[in-house]
Amino acid sequence: MNRPRHWIDFRSDTVTRPTLAMRQAMFDAEVGDDVWGEDPTVTQLEQTLASMAGKAAGLFLPSGTQSNLVALLTHCGRGDEFIVGDQAHTYKYEGGGAAALGSIQPHPLPMTAIGGPDLHDIEHAIRPDNIHFSRTRLLALENTVHGKVLPLDYMTRAYALCQRHGLQLHLDGARVFNASVALGCSLIDITRNADTVSICLSKGLGTPVGSVLVGSSEFIHTARRWRKVTGGGMRQAGILAAAGLYALEHHVQRLADDHRRARLLAERLLRAGYILEPPQTNMLFIDAGELDRTALSAWLHEHGVKADCLGRDNIRLVTHLDINDDDIERAARVFEQFRTRA
Ligand SMILES: Cc1ncc(COP(=O)(O)O)c(C=O)c1O
Repeated sequence: MNRPRHWIDFRSDTVTRPTLAMRQAMFDAEVGDDVWGEDPTVTQLEQTLASMAGKAAGLFLPSGTQSNLVALLTHCGRGDEFIVGDQAHTYKYEGGGAAALGSIQPHPLPMTAIGGPDLHDIEHAIRPDNIHFSRTRLLALENTVHGKVLPLDYMTRAYALCQRHGLQLHLDGARVFNASVALGCSLIDITRNADTVSICLSKGLGTPVGSVLVGSSEFIHTARRWRKVTGGGMRQAGILAAAGLYALEHHVQRLADDHRRARLLAERLLRAGYILEPPQTNMLFIDAGELDRTALSAWLHEHGVKADCLGRDNIRLVTHLDINDDDIERAARVFEQFRTRA
């Protein structure tokens, strides 16, 4: 095989670089001091996403981690508890921020194959009103979760359960547009089943920075204070928000291309003898059980393919804006040739 001309980077959809058109939109952005509420582009982004999600207000934050943290700090007080899947990003991959900075106790529950805790488990995990127990305030779900779309029926039932028990529901919707595009539904069809939603612009949507937290006006008013407290108040952030507005206009429907490419790659890998489930969105996970992982990592590296080989049981491949049909073809051949190498 010839030496690769460029890297094909499947490690994450966060590795994309802003397109020229996006950079131009950033260059042209009207800006002001957003901590004083004077950046028109940030305000436009917040209002646009809030209305797309059917919520009253939005808040632009530097990252998904900070957006989820600010949501948790706003929903829960010291000593309160939130129920969360034990493989969820908010529990496992955000540095324990809610506990470290908010004295909020996570109550992790095993996740079922669909990507959320079992609804009976959730119901049983809610603490009775008793001075011995922490107060259960919130259920945190994630959609998409490890590339899977949470079924709408599950979300509807989870939200009804929360309302029956006086809990709030926060959705880590870092990739919620992948879910809506995969389901062929509107964003609101998903977000109506949550009180608050954190939506990332820097993943499949391809911006360099930023997430938007959406919810009620009162919630966002308090969240704005927590954003400042946690150091997330930004000044002329319209330059970044302009990338978000550009992405909402140009990069949502094209997520279907990422999903199609993930399916295409999965078909080739299955035919070549790799073990994996057909992807629902832009992520595929190759079962690493029977593979010589060290040899595969070295082979991929040698042939210009980057993949996340850090998982205990699998190798993760993520398609995104910077991966085209030719890249899929080339990567598929690299994986096939690993199987048939001498
Ligand atoms: C599901 C999910 N939620 C939240 C985040 C955090 O986003 P950020 O990296 O912007 O902090 C990530 C990051 O990959 C994620 O995958």
